[in-house]
Amino acid sequence: MTPFVDRLLLQAEQCRLMGSPLTGALLEGAAADMRAGGVTAEVLAGSLELPPGTVPSLRFAGALHRLVLERKAPELALHYPSVGGTAPAEEVWPAAERACREHVPELQQLMTRTVQTNEVGRAAVLFGVLGMLGRRVRLLEVGASAGLNLRADHFAYATGDVVLGEPSSPVRLVDPWKNPPPVRHDVEVVERRGCDPNPLDPTTTDGRLTLTSYVWGDQSVRLERLRGALDIAARVPAQVEQAGALEFLTRELAASDDDLLTVVWHSVVWQYVDPAERKAVEELLATAERRVVRVSLEPEAVDGSYVFRVHATTYPSGRRVHLADALGHGPPVRWTGARIEL
Ligand SMILES: C[S@@+](CC[C@H](N)C(=O)[O-])C[C@H]1O[C@@H](n2cnc3c(N)ncnc32)[C@H](O)[C@@H]1O
Repeated sequence: MTPFVDRLLLQAEQCRLMGSPLTGALLEGAAADMRAGGVTAEVLAGSLELPPGTVPSLRFAGALHRLVLERKAPELALHYPSVGGTAPAEEVWPAAERACREHVPELQQLMTRTVQTNEVGRAAVLFGVLGMLGRRVRLLEVGASAGLNLRADHFAYATGDVVLGEPSSPVRLVDPWKNPPPVRHDVEVVERRGCDPNPLDPTTTDGRLTLTSYVWGDQSVRLERLRGALDIAARVPAQVEQAGALEFLTRELAASDDDLLTVVWHSVVWQYVDPAERKAVEELLATAERRVVRVSLEPEAVDGSYVFRVHATTYPSGRRVHLADALGHGPPVRWTGARIEL
């Protein structure tokens, strides 16, 4: 396995490329400190063998952000725009190092938690697709995390003077689409349910804190969307149960209703579902007795890099269309012009 210092540096580079100089500087500082045998080595001692997919560097960044959000690291907080900090990102490490020294056992414990996010921007895809359907929808989300996007119809989607969704929503996605979705109907979500093996409750302090801590502290747009979605979650109920895709869909598809169109939605989930479960879910969908539309936003390798593709598959016909391409966090979405035939 790549030496841990190199993993920190690689992740730092990724964070800078993805618009978080704060997390970049933090992880570079941690790498230098670890190389020198400083406190980082002690904090990360139990995490050195974690496989790459578990992103231990981001666990570490999330753990420190959590201390900041909990007001346990006031000096470090001065560097975090998420709590109003304005001190330079590039000078974050000395304060982070002191926070590490003051909180070793707590940080070691936080390093055992998996990184768990819920990207509100991905609702730009879901809402656009729901607007193509023109039917009352029963929305089932697989890998829903905290279920924030089960409330996609309560967000505002603003293009120029036109605002779709709920115009006064605290979640405002500005210019979510490069071009308009090919068909426009009102969206009516009648039922919203999700599953996740590790669901987070967005109505509890711990759930809200956990979700916020894993958004990088200088990514103001993502943080603002998340805060808005947490407010909506407090007033619009949606159930996310602890279950995997197969268990959840087996039961929920059997309970489908003729008056409603069932939409199964998943975003950046499929890679985490093991191949046998994926196959079983696909077989289950293929034998669905009532009409189901599966809508997915998942990464695909194209010419050596990742593209986030949006597909819709209609069952029982099994007809699959490429509806759009998006970015990892959602907007801007570029629609292909393809339509869903129900
Ligand atoms: C990268 S997160 C994406 C969460 C959410 N869909 C979003 O777009 O913000 C991947 C999610 O898939 C969930 N997951 C992992 N294995 C799963 C399975 N077998 N069935 C359903 N969800 C799964 C994880 O717990 C995690 O919440």
